[in-house]
Amino acid sequence: MEFTDHCRYICFALILVLAAWSSQAAARTLQDASMYERHEQWMTQYGRVYKDSNEKELRYKIFKDNVAYIESSNNAANKPYKLGINPFADLTNEEFIEKRNRFKGHMCSTSINSFKYENVTAVPSTVDWRKKGAVTPIKDQGQCGGCWAFSAVAATEGITKLSTGKLVSLSEQELIDCDTSGVDQGCEGGLMDNAFQFIQQNHGLTTEANYAYKGVDGTCNSKKEANDAATINGHEDVPANNEKALLKAVANQPISVAIDASGSDFQFYSSGVFTGTCGTQLDHGVTAVGYGTSDDGTKYWLVKNSWGTQWGQEGYIQMQRDVDAPEGLCGIAMQASYPTA
Ligand SMILES: *[C@@H]1O[C@H](CO)[C@@H](O)[C@H](O)[C@H]1NC(C)=O
Repeated sequence: MEFTDHCRYICFALILVLAAWSSQAAARTLQDASMYERHEQWMTQYGRVYKDSNEKELRYKIFKDNVAYIESSNNAANKPYKLGINPFADLTNEEFIEKRNRFKGHMCSTSINSFKYENVTAVPSTVDWRKKGAVTPIKDQGQCGGCWAFSAVAATEGITKLSTGKLVSLSEQELIDCDTSGVDQGCEGGLMDNAFQFIQQNHGLTTEANYAYKGVDGTCNSKKEANDAATINGHEDVPANNEKALLKAVANQPISVAIDASGSDFQFYSSGVFTGTCGTQLDHGVTAVGYGTSDDGTKYWLVKNSWGTQWGQEGYIQMQRDVDAPEGLCGIAMQASYPTA
C-alpha cells in the first residue's frame, strides 16, 4: 500500500516532468520554425539570395544569434536606444566591420592647426543642418571601405551650401578613383583630411550625377574629374579631445568626424540616443550634422552615416554628447575636421 502510493507519486511526478519537457521541446521546434520563417521573410525584404543551402544554413544561424542579441538588448532595462533587425542581420560583427570600416585612423594628421571657430562664444541649443538644407539624402557605401570619402563629401556639400546657397550632391567615386596619393586607397580606406587636401589641390569635386558611385575601386576618369562643381580653400582640424570645441564647429557647419563603429550595438542601432559601450579605435568616418538634447535630457550629436536608410534612424544616429571621457563617445571628438570655403 505504502509502496504503491509511493510509486504513484513518483510516476505522477515523472509524467509531469515528461510533459513539461516535451512541451518545451515542441515550443523550441515551433520557435525554430518561426525563426526560420523570419529569416525567409527577412531575405525577401532585403532581396538576399544565397548560393546554396549550406550558405543559407550558415546565414540562418548567424541571423538567429543576431536576433537573440537584438531582442535581449531591447529587453534590457535603462537602455535609451533600441537595436533593430536591419540589412546587416545575417553578418557576424567581424564580417560587418571587415567590409565597411576603413577609416585609417592610426595615420596621424599633420596639418598645422588653426581653428577658425575658437572664439565662438554663443551657440544655439539645437542645430540640425538638414533643416537648413545643407545635407544631401543618405547615401550607401555598400561593401566598400570608402567611409572616409562619404564623410569628406558630406562636409564639403555642407560648406558649399553655406558659401554658395546651393546644395549639390558630390562624387565619392571621384575621391575613390582619383585621390590615390598618400594614405587614401579607395575602398581599402583613407582619411578625410587627405580627401580635403585632394579636393583643394584638384580645384574641386564633380557631382554625384556626373561621376556616379560604383562601390568598387576604379581608374580615374579624368574627363569627368575635370568637371568641377564645388571647390574648397583648405581644411582645418577641430582641437582634439574637446567636445566644447566640436560644438562650436558643428554649430557653424557640418563636420567630418572619425568614430569607433565596431560594436554589435552600432551594427544594429535603430533608434534613440546611442549610449552604448564602444572603444576609441577609430575605424569609421561619418559626419556630425547637428546636435541637441533628447526629451529625457540626454545630450546628443546628430550624425549622418553612409550605410543606407535602413540602418539607424533613416540612416542617422544620435550619439551621446558631453560624456565623461574627453575623447567623446566612440572617440567622436578625437579627429574632427572640416573644409573651409
Ligand atoms: C581669437 O581671439 C584671439 C584674441 O583676440 C586672436 O588673437 C585670435 O586670432 C582669434 N582667433 C580667430 C580664429 O579668430
